[in-house]
Amino acid sequence: MIQLFWIVVCILLWIFFLTIALPITITLQLSQTFRAFFFPYAYLYLIFPLLESQAVSVRKKTFELLKDSLVGRDHSKPLEALEIGIGGGANLHHYPDNCNLTVLDKNKFFEPHFKQNAKNYPHINYKKTVIQPAENMTEIQDNSMDIVVTTYFLCSCDNSDEVLKEIIRVLKPEGKYVCMEHDSFPENTIGLYVQRFLSPLTYLYANGCNPCTQPAKVIKRAGFSQVICKECILTHWTIYPIKHHLVALATK
Ligand SMILES: C[S@@+](CC[C@H](N)C(=O)[O-])C[C@H]1O[C@@H](n2cnc3c(N)ncnc32)[C@H](O)[C@@H]1O
Repeated sequence: MIQLFWIVVCILLWIFFLTIALPITITLQLSQTFRAFFFPYAYLYLIFPLLESQAVSVRKKTFELLKDSLVGRDHSKPLEALEIGIGGGANLHHYPDNCNLTVLDKNKFFEPHFKQNAKNYPHINYKKTVIQPAENMTEIQDNSMDIVVTTYFLCSCDNSDEVLKEIIRVLKPEGKYVCMEHDSFPENTIGLYVQRFLSPLTYLYANGCNPCTQPAKVIKRAGFSQVICKECILTHWTIYPIKHHLVALATK
C-alpha cells in the first residue's frame, strides 16, 4: 500500500515537472516578455507573502529613518516623492502625510496590481505612473523630487551605477534617497556560496535578481553628500539566502 502511494506521488511529480515546470522554465529562458509577465505573479503571490512577514519591520525602520530626516519640514507644503520599482506598492502604507507620489517601474505588468492596491491608500496623491527603466528616467525632471524611495530594487537593475546617477539628477538639492535592499553575505561564508549557487535561478524566476549584490558600495560611490547605512539581519530560516538587509538614507 505504501509502495503504491510513493509510485503515485512520483508519477504526479513527473507529470507536474513535464507539463508545468519544464515548459515554464524553457519559456522564461527564451522570452524576456514572458519573464516580465511571470514575475509579478511569482513575486506578489509567492515571494512577497513569504518575505514580508519578516521584512515588514525593516520596511518600517526604513521609513522611520526617512521621517526622522524630514523633521522640521513644512507639512502644509506637499512632499514630491518618487518611488522607483514600485511593484505592487508594498510601501504605500508607510508614506509620510501630504505626499505627491510619482511611481516608476520598467515592468508594465505590475501596473494593474499596483492600481488595485493603491485604492486602499486614498490619502496619497498619485501624480503619475511612468513605465520606464530607472537607468534612463527621461520623464522625470532634474531637481524635481524631495524624496526618492526604492525597496528590493537595486538587486535587479541592469546598471545600478546609472540608476544612482539618475536618482541624484532628479533629487532637489538636500533631497533624500531612502532604500531597503537585501545584501550579500560577507566574503568566505557558506551563505555567499549559497547565494552564488542560487543566482542563476533567481535571475530566471525573479526577473534578474542577483542575491550577491552589495548595495552599500554602489550607494557610497554614487556621489551623495552624506550616506547613512544600517545593517539588519532577518533570522527566519525560510529566507536564509537573503537574511542580510541594508537600510540606507542618502542626501544629495
Ligand atoms: C522585487 S520587486 C520590489 C517591489 C517593491 N518595491 C517591494 O518592495 O515589494 C522589484 C521591482 O523593481 C522593478 N525594477 C527592477 N529593475 C528596474 C529598473 N531598472 N527600472 C525600473 N524598475 C525596475 C521591477 O519591475 C519590480 O517591480
